[in-house]
Amino acid sequence: MTNRRNFLGYAATAIGAMPFAGVALAQASTASASTAKAASGAAAAAASGYGASTANTKLEIISLSALEEPFKKAIPKAGYVFVTGAKGDEWTLRENRRAMEDFRIVTHRLTGVSPDELDISVNILGHKLSYPFFVAPMGAHRMVHEDGEVATARGAGMAETIYCSSGASNKTLEQIAEATTGPKWFQLYFNQDVSVTKSLLRRAKKAGYSAIVLTADALGPGMSDSFRAMGAPFRSDMTFGNHDPAKGGSGNFFAQKVDLTPDDIKMIKKETGLPVIVKGILRAEDVDPIIDAGADAIQVSNHGGRQVDGVPAAISALPLVAKAVGGRVPVIMDSGIRRGIDVIRALAMGADCVAVGRPVLYGLGVGGAQGVTSVLEALADELRSDMLLTGAKSIADLDASYISITGPSAEMQKN
Ligand SMILES: Cc1cc2nc3c(=O)[nH]c(=O)nc-3n(C[C@H](O)[C@H](O)[C@H](O)COP(=O)(O)O)c2cc1C
Repeated sequence: MTNRRNFLGYAATAIGAMPFAGVALAQASTASASTAKAASGAAAAAASGYGASTANTKLEIISLSALEEPFKKAIPKAGYVFVTGAKGDEWTLRENRRAMEDFRIVTHRLTGVSPDELDISVNILGHKLSYPFFVAPMGAHRMVHEDGEVATARGAGMAETIYCSSGASNKTLEQIAEATTGPKWFQLYFNQDVSVTKSLLRRAKKAGYSAIVLTADALGPGMSDSFRAMGAPFRSDMTFGNHDPAKGGSGNFFAQKVDLTPDDIKMIKKETGLPVIVKGILRAEDVDPIIDAGADAIQVSNHGGRQVDGVPAAISALPLVAKAVGGRVPVIMDSGIRRGIDVIRALAMGADCVAVGRPVLYGLGVGGAQGVTSVLEALADELRSDMLLTGAKSIADLDASYISITGPSAEMQKN
């Protein structure tokens, strides 16, 4: 039986479930500001009393960050605090944004670039994507929307980009796989019971996921102080879909293996034959053992500041990690991507593509599946315009010559 102590010890992404049945949720609710209510979602909302969004509507987006305020109004306070919070003093959360400014864009002029010729597509692990970004794995979407990850995945599919399904999803990986028409990756929380891990991997492969993302940085409690101060108000009807026996799952989500080693990469590859991406890397020295064990990509990430506060911004760590990788495998980066220029910064600093976290959930809360698509399309529009003004014709054009590194990030490169 998982009790509160176990939860705080092992809930890698600070996501709660059945142990929190009975924790006051309704009191944390605010009225949903969303207008478009889907009938099924509304019925579910009424049943749980939680009041997540049931919206499904296209959004006019000024900027991804500007969507945070409507998001706050559209969903219960518990969901808002759960999504937006980060660890400790939230220094790393802020630093993910501040450090972007260390990477000054050095524009190229008279390059003959025109809107018709601009190419922002990328190839990543066998997928050609229209945009150089995809949806980062995030758990517990029913804290935001009644349809949970099914709506998010549908939105990612409509934007024709990758949906990376979290091992901590509320819906099952099969339901999520069916919902998206785009490519899909499965993010694994390695279970202490290897038979549970293997069963998740087998199911993911059968459901059509084309790569496994091993999250390496979520080894302990990652809950924000503000969410804890509220009493960790997860909705009372929340389950982890992949482990739900009623839906063909097994095992305890909270019994995660924390003593991960490169051998675990080998096991995943042997079990699935699928490419493995190791997510949560910030240090150049970690790269060789991971690649030697057979990893097919490295994801530079600090989990959006949700794990160890005080670690550097992902963008600051990226050049060092990309240098250590040296083109042997693709590099992905997430944490703090909000603008087209952030995508340019990351790609110029050695990432092959980036992942977007919280803003996708803002889109989910305010506009459901269509809102998710709107977020991804808005970022693509902004990127196209920023590329044009930067003078780069294609993603392949972007290299270190487009960036001047300044401030603390420049200091880091010297160490
Ligand atoms: C609500 C929430 C839940 C998350 N759950 C997971 C998860 O289950 N697995 C994982 O690897 N990362 C998880 N992450 C981290 C994201 O994959 C990603 O690293 C982070 O959100 C990127 O930062 P950004 O939100 O600033 O874009 C979660 C992030 C959020 C906001």
